[in-house]
Amino acid sequence: MVETVEAPPATTPVGKDAPAGPDVFRQLLHQAVRVADMANAQAMRMALDFAKVYEREQGVRREFETQLREMTLMEKQAGRYAEDLAEMLRTERERRHELERALEHERIANEELRRTGLQGISHLLLAATLKDRTTGEHLLRVRRYVEAITERLGLPSALVEEFGYSSVMHDVGKIHTPDHILQSEHHLSDDEFDVIKQHCIDGETMLGEARFFETARGIAREHHERWDGKGYPDGKKGEEISLAARIVSVADVFDALTSKRPYKEAWSAEAGIEAIEKGAGEKFDPEVVAAFVALSNEGVVERIRSEVAASRAASSENSAK
Ligand SMILES: [Fe+2]
Repeated sequence: MVETVEAPPATTPVGKDAPAGPDVFRQLLHQAVRVADMANAQAMRMALDFAKVYEREQGVRREFETQLREMTLMEKQAGRYAEDLAEMLRTERERRHELERALEHERIANEELRRTGLQGISHLLLAATLKDRTTGEHLLRVRRYVEAITERLGLPSALVEEFGYSSVMHDVGKIHTPDHILQSEHHLSDDEFDVIKQHCIDGETMLGEARFFETARGIAREHHERWDGKGYPDGKKGEEISLAARIVSVADVFDALTSKRPYKEAWSAEAGIEAIEKGAGEKFDPEVVAAFVALSNEGVVERIRSEVAASRAASSENSAK
C-alpha cells in the first residue's frame, strides 16, 4: 500500500507573529527541502509499489497468455484429431461397403456356378444311369446315407450338402466302360476287372478342374479304395483317402448289398449292416462305420430306404396317369 504523506511538525511558527529575517528564510527553506525529500521518497515508494504490482500483473498476464496459447493449440490439435478420426471412419465405411459389394458379387457368381454345376451333374447322371442301368434310387439313397453320415460325424452343414451332391457322381466314369463288361453277369477276368477299375480314373478326369467338383473328383477317384490299402486304383490307405470318399464307400457298398442286381437278390438291411460292421478297419474307416451303425440303430437308414421307395412309387404313379 502507498502511504500518505503527512506534513512534518513546524519547528518555527510561521505567520504574522513569526520573526522576520534571514534565519526565518533559512528555516523555511530547510523545512521545504525536508517536505520535498519526504514527498520524493513517498513517490519513489509508490512508484516501486506500482512497479511491483505491474510486474506481478504482467507475469500473470504472460502466464495467462501462455496457457491460452497452449489451450488454443490443444484445441486445434483436438480438432485435427477429430477430423482425422472422421476421415478414417469415412474411409473405413467406404471400404466396408466396397467389401460388401464384392462379397455380394462373389455370392451371386458362386450361386450361378452352383446352379450350372448342379445342372451339369444332372446331365452327367442321366448319361451314367442310361449306360449303367444304375437306378436313380440307388444314387438318391447313397446321397441320403452320405448326408446322414456326414451330419452324424458333426461336420458343418455346407460340407453335408457338398458331400451329398458330390456323392452322386461317384460312378460317372463308367460312361467309358464298355457295355459287355459293365453288364456282364458272369465272373470278370483280371483283364476285364482292370477295365472296370479304369472308371475311377475316368470319373476324376471327366469332372474337370472346377473347384465345384473338387470333392466329387476325390470321391470318383477313391471310392473303391480300402482302409487297409488293398483297394483300387491307387492302393491308398487310411486317411490318405479323402473323408468324403470313405463315407461314400460305406454308403455305396451298403446300398449295393441291399439292392437287387441281375446277378443277386437284395440282402436284408440287417445283413447289410452286419457286412459293413465286419469291414470296419479293413475295407472301411471304423469311425464312418460307427456313425452308419448308429444311424441304423436310430432307424435313420430304414427311414431313408422307405422314403426313397415312397418317392419312386409316387413318381411312377404320376407318370402312369
Ligand atoms: Fe464305382
